[in-house]
Amino acid sequence: MLWQTEQGKRVVEQVSGHEIISHEPATGDEVWRGKVGDVDEIVARARRAWPAWAALPLTNRIEMVRRFANEVRKESDKLATMIARETGKPMWEARAEVETVVNKVEISVRAYADRTGQKKLDGALQGTAAVRHKPHGVLAVLGPYNFPAHLPNGHIVPALIAGNVVVFKPSEKAPATGELLVQCFHRAGLSAAVLQVLIGGPAEGQALVGHDGVDGVLFTGSAHTGIAINRKLAANPGKMVALEMGGNNPIVVWDTPKIDDAAAIVVQSAFTSAGQRCTAARRLIVKSSMYDALIGEVKRLADRLIVGAPFDEPSPFMGPVIDNRTADGLTESFVYLLSNGGKVIKNMVRLRENLPFLSPAIIDVTDMAERPDVELFGPLLQVVRVDDFDEAIAEANATRFGLSASLVGGTPQDYNRFWANIRAGVVNWNRPTNGASSAAPFGGIGLSGNHRPSAYYAADYCAYPVASTELDQPRATIGVGLRSD
Ligand code: NAD
Ligand code: SIN
Repeated sequence: MLWQTEQGKRVVEQVSGHEIISHEPATGDEVWRGKVGDVDEIVARARRAWPAWAALPLTNRIEMVRRFANEVRKESDKLATMIARETGKPMWEARAEVETVVNKVEISVRAYADRTGQKKLDGALQGTAAVRHKPHGVLAVLGPYNFPAHLPNGHIVPALIAGNVVVFKPSEKAPATGELLVQCFHRAGLSAAVLQVLIGGPAEGQALVGHDGVDGVLFTGSAHTGIAINRKLAANPGKMVALEMGGNNPIVVWDTPKIDDAAAIVVQSAFTSAGQRCTAARRLIVKSSMYDALIGEVKRLADRLIVGAPFDEPSPFMGPVIDNRTADGLTESFVYLLSNGGKVIKNMVRLRENLPFLSPAIIDVTDMAERPDVELFGPLLQVVRVDDFDEAIAEANATRFGLSASLVGGTPQDYNRFWANIRAGVVNWNRPTNGASSAAPFGGIGLSGNHRPSAYYAADYCAYPVASTELDQPRATIGVGLRSD
């Protein structure tokens, strides 16, 4: 058996000698190659740059990220094309990712003021009590491959606004996108030392995380890696660590006459981005009495999804998974479920020889004695049939993860019960599990995160609060407990 995100899938075939080579999943062609960076050199440069950047007025830093947004607008075709080539996602989706990168800037400006701006309160003796925020210093941003621009950018922009300098290590599976993103900042006029790209794989990630010159680690990736980072930093409580990790997300379908809509929400949740979203629905929990109608429609819809290369016409719904190793792991996982009590609803098929195109797959695991609680990061949906709502909630919570969860159907009372009892950072009603908004906090509990949500709340982990009481002159007397002279 090969459980994808728990085992050694991170054998990095892309790292060859001192180069990283990036391949297009849809063709197998080489897209890019580049030299692995020197961690010590890059961190030292960042440390030298930090004081001047932190000392700039906030308005200057905001102006800089706004100029960056303009550069991304100008380069949007180029950036979207690179995202599509490196990840294999359809061009429509890559364009949406670029738009999210641009929108993040104004959201982060608002979030900084709202969450970490300065506040002055009236204090004693006509003085003031103030709360202001300071940047941490040098922050490491470690990115995943599935949103290689949007997710690192979601840390980088708020970190820069707050006055940090950043060393960004993109995923070794999408380094070219990372490099392009950083070039947009530099073209906007940002000093090269304030935001640097570190090309590398897990070894460089580890070295960066443990480096004494790094004051914080903003990570998006698998739980496996997040836990390794947490362990490495266990004796460094002073380092900021924000971990945005994976999920084993449930979608519960309850009483609703709107079977077609429910099926569309399930399919969007499970198969958008070929299931390579942290918020993708992995487990469909369905009321027994609705099973036949719902599963029939979900399968019909999944059968119609076009799986294809990013630039195909007509546009595919989803592309390949990231590489052959991942496709093999998913296929083996499907076979494992099957040989341990799972019943096929829709087979997982390798659609093109030697390329990681997988058909969406659905398997009923109700009768499995033990269902593995792992994140299978691809187009694989497991179905569990239940009889009552308490059982549905218990099934949904039967995971160590806690990122997103949706209820489809049910009454407002059902949703209230669902919302109150589900352990997750994103809980939706009649909406997919994925498609989270950058204007809301985004994070999970359990193995999904460490209570430092990103998106709108990214401002919180990019600066720390300092409380001060202040008078313009020393003014004090000792009122009690003095001996008279
Ligand atoms: P990954 O954990 O393999 O890699 C993420 C980054 O960490 C990469 O840059 C990698 O080089 C680096 N890295 C790997 N090992 C490291 C180590 N020991 N120390 C330091 N750095 C290390 O993740 P991935 O496969 O690129 O991305 C997919 C995963 O990301 C999925 O689990 C998905 O659910 C998760 N994800 C989470 C969110 C979220 O916001 N919660 C969003 C997107 C993706
Ligand atoms: C992700 O970050 O992987 C997905 C975000 C979302 O679609 O909710």
